[in-house]
Amino acid sequence: YEDFKIISSASAIPKRVVDNDELSTMMDTSDQWITQRTGIKRRHVAVNETTSSLATQAAEKLLDQSDLDAADIDLIIVATMSPDYLTPSVGAMVQGNIGADHAIAFDVDAACSGFVYALKVAGQMMMADHEMHAIVIGAETLSKLIDWHDRSTAVLFGDGAAGVLISNTANQGSFISEDLTTLGKLGKYLTAGQVGVKSPFAADDTQYSPFFKMNGHRVYGFAVKNVPESINRALAKAGMTVNDIDHFVLHQANERIIERIAETLNAPMAKFPVNINEYGNTSAASEPILLAELVDKQIIKRGDVVALSGFGGGLTVGTMIIKY
Ligand code: ACO
Repeated sequence: YEDFKIISSASAIPKRVVDNDELSTMMDTSDQWITQRTGIKRRHVAVNETTSSLATQAAEKLLDQSDLDAADIDLIIVATMSPDYLTPSVGAMVQGNIGADHAIAFDVDAACSGFVYALKVAGQMMMADHEMHAIVIGAETLSKLIDWHDRSTAVLFGDGAAGVLISNTANQGSFISEDLTTLGKLGKYLTAGQVGVKSPFAADDTQYSPFFKMNGHRVYGFAVKNVPESINRALAKAGMTVNDIDHFVLHQANERIIERIAETLNAPMAKFPVNINEYGNTSAASEPILLAELVDKQIIKRGDVVALSGFGGGLTVGTMIIKY
């Protein structure tokens, strides 16, 4: 078994919506600025939901939509940069919550590229001589990593979870190709959740920041250059061109970035669905939220060729081309 097929896709989104006008009452910003620069109108924000509770809800929906039970699941991978704890992992919490007693579970952190990285890891781990089933979820509560007084980052992010249930299949050709790239030297341009050394032995003059710090211009420049390059490398590996892709399901960080990527690839915007207006940037959850929405609306149909591509903290970039 050297391939996988997506059996179901589902999302779990907090109910509380914070629109741009509400943010404008909290900080010096406006609906016009946020919409023009990013395309974001609203974001969903956790009230008492956690990364693990959202991921658990998504996992339950994935099972409901399949013929499988929790006991059939062999592997659970959660892509997240905002876990509930450093340990246990969100994956292990989901495993316990849904009672997937036969599954091994862990997290992958590649920030906004996390979902593609996690799919790759799952695919590799499912190369086996027997049938296997895996749940791969991107889940985030980025609201807890935001300095709500910092308008330069507070307006960008949202919370949510979504994922897919995949099974390894005998040569059904779902997985086509991928490109994963990490540029660790650029990591300083986007950081969040710094965990400080705190002990009786630690120097007491060091400042640690739990909040997002981002050089927006650098990350923007990185994305508009590296995402098309990553997509082109994945296409070349597959012997495909842009025209062979039916839907580009890109990380939803900024609508302008997606427009620039479409331009660079010389592909029509119609092939680049966007839902950032509703959710903001949900990091590892953004591609699976969009994928689940498009499958639900029957815009993505069986047999369609989809390029999933994410970029973000690390800095990382990743593309996976699949036949849905
Ligand atoms: N409301 C109003 N004004 C604002 C706001 C705000 N929310 N934020 C910044 N401004 C001001 C700035 O202070 C600046 O004012 P000045 O000219 O008086 O100094 C002005 O608006 C322009 O700011 P810029 O930073 O130049 O705005 P820019 O056009 O670059 O847009 C943005 C900023 C949207 C962040 C853009 O740089 C971007 O999208 N970068 C990529 C970020 C990204 O994709 N990050 C996600 C990575 S995913 C992950 O791993 C989590």
